[in-house]
Amino acid sequence: MNDYEHKTVLPGETIELWHAKPGGVYVDATLGLGGHSEALLALDPQATVLGLDVDDEALQVSRSRLARFGPRILPVKESYMNLSQALHAAHFKEADGVLADLGVSSLQLDKAERGFSFRNSGPLDMRMDSAQEQTALELIQQSSDEELEQILRTYGEERLARSIARRLKEASRDGRLTDTLSCAAVVASVYGKRGGREKIHPATRTFQALRIAVNREMANLDKFLVDAPRLLAQGGRLVCLSFHSLEDRKVKTAFRALSQGCVCPADFPKCVCGKTAEFKMLTKKPVVAADVETARNPRSRSARLRALERI
Ligand SMILES: C[S@@+](CC[C@H](N)C(=O)[O-])C[C@H]1O[C@@H](n2cnc3c(N)ncnc32)[C@H](O)[C@@H]1O
Repeated sequence: MNDYEHKTVLPGETIELWHAKPGGVYVDATLGLGGHSEALLALDPQATVLGLDVDDEALQVSRSRLARFGPRILPVKESYMNLSQALHAAHFKEADGVLADLGVSSLQLDKAERGFSFRNSGPLDMRMDSAQEQTALELIQQSSDEELEQILRTYGEERLARSIARRLKEASRDGRLTDTLSCAAVVASVYGKRGGREKIHPATRTFQALRIAVNREMANLDKFLVDAPRLLAQGGRLVCLSFHSLEDRKVKTAFRALSQGCVCPADFPKCVCGKTAEFKMLTKKPVVAADVETARNPRSRSARLRALERI
């Protein structure tokens, strides 16, 4: 596989929002294959980027891809959940821009051995950080029927969550969940003939839900959305690119709350709370990919880009 196959989503729009100040300190909280970081470092010859990722393979690829930028790129194996520690460990007090391009990279999806894809046979793994303990198979084995149903319903918005959870549990007890394809086949069997009428593969939502649960993506994002704004310098920006309605809702809600000034009830004649906004929203509506980009890169179809600036 071509190492650089991940097509960076909304590259121009993202860099424009992320690049708050020439020569600034930037955090790429999801370095991946380094597409966004490469664009920023090439644009601004004085900028420095601290790049975080939990995926060893992604770090290996981005390290070599970005090597030409020398000490201006600092790739580190760390979760964006620990952004504050990572920033301080790199001897930075604050950042002029923090970017999170959430979700899965093509490197992860395309490598069958990583277990993210239902199109090729691979172990039911789905861990972004291979040092983490629980694989997708172990998650299925160790969850109750009800817990698994809840995961599929919440993270996959899967309407057949109960039946799929029950069948997956049965299959795991019988030793039939041998790989990603057998898992996808169990899900497809629940859909039966209806599966053929779906616009997407019937296993899409189940795989998405398992991936989100295995990597604790929502809990990580919650912590990140609390910490990242506080680590911005004045005029610094937090930019989030999400691919899932749950993620986008979290980003939108956090940004709205942070950019809210006075919280007095609307019928108060004048402000008594004295609260002033510390942040302003740079994107009233999320930026989405144009038709040319979605035609070239179908993954960009669900992308939602939002940005916040510290005042
Ligand atoms: C969509 S890709 C980023 C692609 C990148 N912007 C590019 O242009 O190449 C998302 C990356 O985030 C990483 N990731 C997921 N959860 C993470 C976490 N908690 N902390 C740091 N990185 C994480 C994944 O391993 C993956 O490499």
